[in-house]
Amino acid sequence: MREENPGKGWETQRQYALRVRGLWGAAPKKAYVRTYGCQQNVSDSEKLSGMLSEMGYVFTDSPKDADLVLFNTCAVREHAEQRVLGNVGALKGFKAKKPDMLIALCGCMMQERHVSEKIKQSYPYVDLVFGTGALPRFPELLWRALTENGRVFDLEEQNGVVEGVPVRRDGAYTAWLPVMNGCNNFCTYCIVPYVRGREHSRAPEQVLREAEELLAAGVKDLTLLGQNVNSYGKNLQNDWDFAKLLEKLAALPGEFRLHFMTSHPKDASHRLFDTIAANPKISRRLHLPFQSGSDRILRQMNRGYTAAQYRELVAYAKAAIPGLCLTSDVIVGFPGETCEDFKQTLALVEEVGFANLYTFLYSPRKGTPAAEMPDPVAREEKARWFEELLAAQGVKSRAFLESHVGMAGRVLAENVENGLAAGHTDSGVAVSFPAPAAGRFYEVSFTEVKGVTLLGEPKQVPVKENV
Ligand code: SAH
Ligand code: SF4
Ligand code: F3S
Repeated sequence: MREENPGKGWETQRQYALRVRGLWGAAPKKAYVRTYGCQQNVSDSEKLSGMLSEMGYVFTDSPKDADLVLFNTCAVREHAEQRVLGNVGALKGFKAKKPDMLIALCGCMMQERHVSEKIKQSYPYVDLVFGTGALPRFPELLWRALTENGRVFDLEEQNGVVEGVPVRRDGAYTAWLPVMNGCNNFCTYCIVPYVRGREHSRAPEQVLREAEELLAAGVKDLTLLGQNVNSYGKNLQNDWDFAKLLEKLAALPGEFRLHFMTSHPKDASHRLFDTIAANPKISRRLHLPFQSGSDRILRQMNRGYTAAQYRELVAYAKAAIPGLCLTSDVIVGFPGETCEDFKQTLALVEEVGFANLYTFLYSPRKGTPAAEMPDPVAREEKARWFEELLAAQGVKSRAFLESHVGMAGRVLAENVENGLAAGHTDSGVAVSFPAPAAGRFYEVSFTEVKGVTLLGEPKQVPVKENV
């Protein structure tokens, strides 16, 4: 069969991985992997770490002891980029003391040309740089960086879904499961479509097979990942859509839970909400970013819906899914946003009552349309709005958590230390409770709120397996 991405298929790359492993003989090398940004990046790092294991690396938490330091970077806001550059700067001293340390940078930020140029010019101690499109060729790139003279840069922009790469997952009972990659939406403030490329869905058979393998290995909680999961299937030559994928996954045997993120309001359908309502294995948590409550700003953001359409969607979802836990993202201070626009955002937050809100101050991203728009409002004014929004949401978030006290719910014990389990409810709220063993569901009575966590007591018997 022809390879969809020549040279990227794992069979070709495995040969390079074995060659790298062959360099070490019996003594494994130590790798330090640090991930910035969203869950997609966390999932990518699990693949990079899987490949590193195949290449004979073990993992360390200390960059100064590492033979290889790998940063998987994020470009979504300026603050994220500054943190990466600051931390890369700190590696210079480590490398001075340990000259054969190899420093590698990858991910979204490297896919921006001005950043890779800056690394080339001003960070000569960085040995290997590659973008999101080159991730599956990591073994080949590392082999070259280790054996060739000179630095290796691979910023090929080709995208595509790659199957078969080994994955080293962090949790035993929870797992990320990417269902698509890239984004076609081009919201005017956002860098993601430029650094991740166009939208590509994984074949449903591949997603289902990976889910089955994970469940067979004891995973109880799967989070399906994509920048816009609601457009799943659009590039596939068949009639799959996201609701159908969810239905098929929820029909797999065993007791487990399905989450997904992120949903775009313009593509979230009533059918999706009905599917959630009809399947107890699908979590009652919905992350539905609205970004702004002002139609004028939503238009300039190219979001493709109005505030009234968003309200209608939420009303439908709340009616269809009892106990829905709704969360959202919002941007404060988009170019040209006025106090009046901001008040509309605040009104929407007051009205909808989100369980949690991820609030961001607008950050101009080079190459995006919004970065060219006039932005007259002073940063101090935007910061005041931001604080006002945080305070309003703080009241809602506390009320949401406190509404659990005196109630009970199903909680997965994700890990247990000294008899105390940490886990989450079906709607994603963190819970701490006494339990003997991790990896199973307990029915827990919630007694108290501590910070952002619920404290609880398990009812007598663990919830039955294989219902
Ligand atoms: N695909 C997801 C979001 C990915 S980025 C979605 O569409 O919902 C996560 C969040 O970062 C976005 O929802 C947005 O609120 C925020 N964000 C993206 N670009 C930003 C920018 N330039 N400045 C501030 N926040 C931004
Ligand atoms: Fe960015 Fe919009 Fe795509 Fe989300 S949907 S990743 S905000 S362009
Ligand atoms: Fe950042 Fe890339 Fe995710 S820019 S938010 S790591 S897709």
